[in-house]
Amino acid sequence: MQNLDSKYWENRYQEGYTGWDVGHISGGMQHIIDQLTDKNFNILVPGAGNGYEVTYLWNAGFKNVYLVDWAPSPIAKFQSFNPDFPKSQLINIDFFKLEGQFDLILEQTFFCALPPGKRVAYAEKMNQLLKPGGTLRGLLFKVPMNEDRPPFGGSVAEYEELFSKKFQIDYIRDCLNSEPERLGTEVEFMVTRVH
Ligand SMILES: C[S@@+](CC[C@H](N)C(=O)[O-])C[C@H]1O[C@@H](n2cnc3c(N)ncnc32)[C@H](O)[C@@H]1O
Repeated sequence: MQNLDSKYWENRYQEGYTGWDVGHISGGMQHIIDQLTDKNFNILVPGAGNGYEVTYLWNAGFKNVYLVDWAPSPIAKFQSFNPDFPKSQLINIDFFKLEGQFDLILEQTFFCALPPGKRVAYAEKMNQLLKPGGTLRGLLFKVPMNEDRPPFGGSVAEYEELFSKKFQIDYIRDCLNSEPERLGTEVEFMVTRVH
């Protein structure tokens, strides 16, 4: 398999080979964010790319929102569209090297971009980055996808196994608000850090 490092992702942005990018906040993400009430939440969006959900959160009054991506191009683009967004909350780093404590982490097409061998490390890092009682929420594909390149698929049974060790699984259920091209392929999930 190709090395899925920051250069790989940066090249994809530079070449415009970004099929995952729906160009606006996805219906599934908007549905999740519209349920949030605490504007003081510390919110992390890792592997955010162009970060449409970060823009949405910011415009809705959530000011403690952090965008993480290790490709510089989408961060620069985000900045050009959101000049008032604090630079200190745009973090160009490998997610696995990030430090911090968040109330909420939002997942969308970051998990499926990682080599499957990193899934346990993903769950552990998410757990470490959440405050006790903090939640990881978002969307995950529930169908098999590519074997040798992103996006990599998954299943509800796999996610239950992955998250059951250190999280309480609040729900993993079919997403009813998916973008048309993803309808029937995604679950909406929420897990809470308990250990
Ligand atoms: C498939 S894209 C999804 C982008 C965005 N979530 C969206 O839905 O448009 C995956 C993103 O994760 C980023 N990424 C992959 N591995 C990463 C890592 N280890 N640390 C930080 N960002 C990473 C890539 O640069 C890319 O922007």
